[in-house]
Amino acid sequence: MKRNISITTTNGVVKKGSIASDSHTPLARLKRNRSSCLCILGIIALLVVVGLGVGLGVGLTRKSGQNSPSNSPRADTQSSTKSSTSTGLPSTSSTSTPTATFKLRPSQTAAAQWQPTAGETWQITLIKPPNNTDLAVTAYDLDLFDNSLAFIANLKLKGHRVICYFSAGSYEDWRPDAKNFTKADYGKAMDGWAGEWWLDTNSQNVRNIIANRIALAQSKGCDAIDPDNINGYQNPTGLNLTEADAISFLRFMSIEAHNRGLAIGLKNGGELVSDVIDFMDFAVQESCVAYGECGPYRTFLEYNSPVFHIEYPADTNVTVAEICAPKNGAQGFSTIIKHLKLDDWAEYCP
Ligand SMILES: *[C@@H]1O[C@H](CO)[C@@H](O)[C@H](O)[C@H]1NC(C)=O
Ligand SMILES: *[C@@H]1O[C@H](CO)[C@@H](O)[C@H](O)[C@H]1NC(C)=O
Ligand SMILES: *[C@@H]1O[C@H](CO)[C@@H](O)[C@H](O)[C@H]1NC(C)=O
Ligand SMILES: *[C@@H]1O[C@H](CO)[C@@H](O)[C@H](O)[C@H]1NC(C)=O
Repeated sequence: MKRNISITTTNGVVKKGSIASDSHTPLARLKRNRSSCLCILGIIALLVVVGLGVGLGVGLTRKSGQNSPSNSPRADTQSSTKSSTSTGLPSTSSTSTPTATFKLRPSQTAAAQWQPTAGETWQITLIKPPNNTDLAVTAYDLDLFDNSLAFIANLKLKGHRVICYFSAGSYEDWRPDAKNFTKADYGKAMDGWAGEWWLDTNSQNVRNIIANRIALAQSKGCDAIDPDNINGYQNPTGLNLTEADAISFLRFMSIEAHNRGLAIGLKNGGELVSDVIDFMDFAVQESCVAYGECGPYRTFLEYNSPVFHIEYPADTNVTVAEICAPKNGAQGFSTIIKHLKLDDWAEYCP
């Protein structure tokens, strides 16, 4: 069972996607705000990290990111991210070595889009405004609608890649294109989440709107998309969505993205990995250590593609020690420790 989580902030409802939840975690607990004390500690920690990293890390990120035009294939050097370890910044437990050989998917051979590599570092901030844009990470995962072309361009000038998040499988009534959906396009409300309904991803109208969003991502200069909520087949949508429907929808989005020079990630949906690995460029995974579900995603590493992996230790029973343990199934993943509301706060394994 996957449970969808969103956090209501003063800025409005913020979607964060689904969290694997065999344990039927009470929503009230997941929605609970982190104590301000923790946030302040986090901000201080982040300031220290940024302070340490600005000189060294960002310089390194620039080195690996600036000498290639956007939307062209690039060998993101493993060495640059590795050498940031000593600064306390994210380290990569990379599975790649100079002599390693990887599987190659068709979309990698003729890639016009960014080809992220396994172990690359990242930050994900889905509430606005993202305040910390100087982390020594390769990629930022940010809300497609909430961030402007100028904001994204600034990040790219600093040498970062930008992954643009949107909900592909739910109708969110506050989005600027919400009026383009019809009543027939959506089924049941997402359990407990105001303003959000499961989408019929087989609807041609829905697909047209999603295609427009992918075009918007291209026009804003995003390198990739992170389409969320593709796992309606695991949820009471009122639409009888199946895994085959999800695969069809992902294939559709992948074609739209690749045609526009954008990479695309599989968000959760471990059941689908073997069916979509040929046309998805990376994975974005939540809580697989907490729920023991990392295994299927490891296939991405065989293609030298990253698994951008989030754990929420404050909201699940997983500890930081478990998240960062060497043989927990997530070795080689691009692991980040976050608050459920996906604000700027972030920690990385040592
Ligand atoms: C709604 O759909 C139309 C037709 O596809 C499109 O031109 C328009 O940009 C969409 N509106 C928004 C706000 O995206
Ligand atoms: C879903 O499947 C059930 C059982 O087969 C059926 O009764 C129902 O009408 C279907 N609903 C939709 C929206 O297709
Ligand atoms: C944590 O573990 C306790 C005891 O096993 C359980 O009651 C609780 O539901 C778990 N919480 C989460 C968020 O998984
Ligand atoms: C950025 O800082 C403002 C002011 O402290 C805060 O309200 C907002 O939540 C922060 N943004 C993120 C993403 O943490």
